[in-house]
Amino acid sequence: MSDVGKGKAMDSFECMLTRRSVRKFKDQEVDNETLQKIIEAGRYAPSWANTQCWEFIVVRDPSLKEQLAQTLPEGNPARKSVTRAPVVLAILGQHERSGFYKGQAATNKGDTWFMYDVGLASQNMSLAAHSLGLGSVILGLFDAAKAEEVLSVPEGVSLVALMPLGYPEKVPSAAPPRKPLCEFVFLNKYEKPWVEGDEKLCFVEE
Ligand SMILES: Cc1cc2nc3c(=O)[nH]c(=O)nc-3n(C[C@H](O)[C@H](O)[C@H](O)COP(=O)(O)O)c2cc1C
Repeated sequence: MSDVGKGKAMDSFECMLTRRSVRKFKDQEVDNETLQKIIEAGRYAPSWANTQCWEFIVVRDPSLKEQLAQTLPEGNPARKSVTRAPVVLAILGQHERSGFYKGQAATNKGDTWFMYDVGLASQNMSLAAHSLGLGSVILGLFDAAKAEEVLSVPEGVSLVALMPLGYPEKVPSAAPPRKPLCEFVFLNKYEKPWVEGDEKLCFVEE
């Protein structure tokens, strides 16, 4: 076993509930050792048949970050995060590996399973960052084709998300509201809610 994660201050449930998307960062570097722990958490995510189709680019170069920021629409609330974060992780997925068996798509979902695996790795990394006192935000709303050019991403690989990462300057005080369980959990079939509307089965006080 590696030493990664030892001495961690937060239990995993607390970590999941207190993580917030952070869009404002301090002017403080993230060293490679810390970054490696975060990436290690991504590396240990589950994946289709352990295909591990994710790839990451660690972007530290200010001019590349500026070019990436230009691929976000003006209205994206995280536009400035891309240049202000000391590190931007570009999160990539290789095609035709996850969900594939002997070169053929194994399910009716075609070549979309890589998005799932890459999402799991991203969540592991954002939770690991949070448990180490860093903040991050996952970005999906940007011109991925332009960003792939900026980062020289080859054919056969998609840039799925960008993740600005750093020490938080401002953490949102409360979680954006979550749907109640009665709206999205069903009992036995997609008919009857698992809990009725007035039942409180949430762990988080709202
Ligand atoms: C796939 C995905 C794409 C997202 N894209 C953006 C984005 O482009 N810009 C942004 O500001 N936040 C983005 N977010 C962050 C969400 O807005 C945020 O997770 C959500 O509002 C819940 O807030 P929380 O992360 O603090 O719990 C994205 C999150 C996910 C999972």
